[in-house]
Amino acid sequence: MEVIICPNAQRVGEVAAAKAARIAGPIGPKVVLGVATGSSPVQTFAELARLVDAGELDVSEASAFALDEYVGIPEGHPESYHEIIRKTVTEPMHLDPSRVHVPNGFADDLAAACVAYEDAIRAAGGVDIQFLGVGSNGHIGFNEPTSSLSSRTRIKTLAARTREDNARFFDSIEQVPRHCLTQGLGTIMDARNVILVATGSGKAHAIAQVVEGPITAMYPGSVLQLHQHATIVVDADAAAELSLADYYKETYANLPDWQRLDV
Ligand code: GLP
Repeated sequence: MEVIICPNAQRVGEVAAAKAARIAGPIGPKVVLGVATGSSPVQTFAELARLVDAGELDVSEASAFALDEYVGIPEGHPESYHEIIRKTVTEPMHLDPSRVHVPNGFADDLAAACVAYEDAIRAAGGVDIQFLGVGSNGHIGFNEPTSSLSSRTRIKTLAARTREDNARFFDSIEQVPRHCLTQGLGTIMDARNVILVATGSGKAHAIAQVVEGPITAMYPGSVLQLHQHATIVVDADAAAELSLADYYKETYANLPDWQRLDV
């Protein structure tokens, strides 16, 4: 795992985007992106859009796969992940909407929609760069604590804490759906590169568990310790409970030239 501690949230977005651009460059315009909702990656996507507009990143033929979607919220609803991905990823990066995929949480047959989603990822050749946030309970995607570490896209019941965390986007907690479709931890682990971003003190405990805790389904993001190319980009607040923070800072400050990010 590469852990990069940044002074603030804006820098987190810049560093995560620079890392993604470094990976995407050699892959070319057909790069396959795994994209996340939530507030965490918004700055990263904005910075990627800036790189696209500046001609420094070509995603003109890229595909994208979202991590998850609520069950029972129609596509046009402002809190549907379809809508959020359209606003934060598809439009700013000028992606072809027909190549941007979100699990269909409004399907009549949800189990079949999950299988179809896994098939679509496979047909696209797999995800090159998976962006992730992390829930305050350590979830990635909507893989709540006790999720199978090898799970695939499936229906999940949201944890009470996740519904409380996400209630801020709805008029009341009763409106937050109880179910979702989410890529599994096994699906996420198949991505060739993973970039997780987190900011704020509310994520400090989850980040410490994900990066330095035992690999456990109780903190599902900890499965990333088994990933060969996982980068964790956090601000100082989200890094507050990391016991090896000084080591991560020293490592980043002394990267050899060929590994340095141009930010
Ligand atoms: C949401 C999403 C996750 C996201 C997490 C944190 O519910 N399903 O993909 O990473 O919870 O959200 P935020 O970045 O807003 O804190």
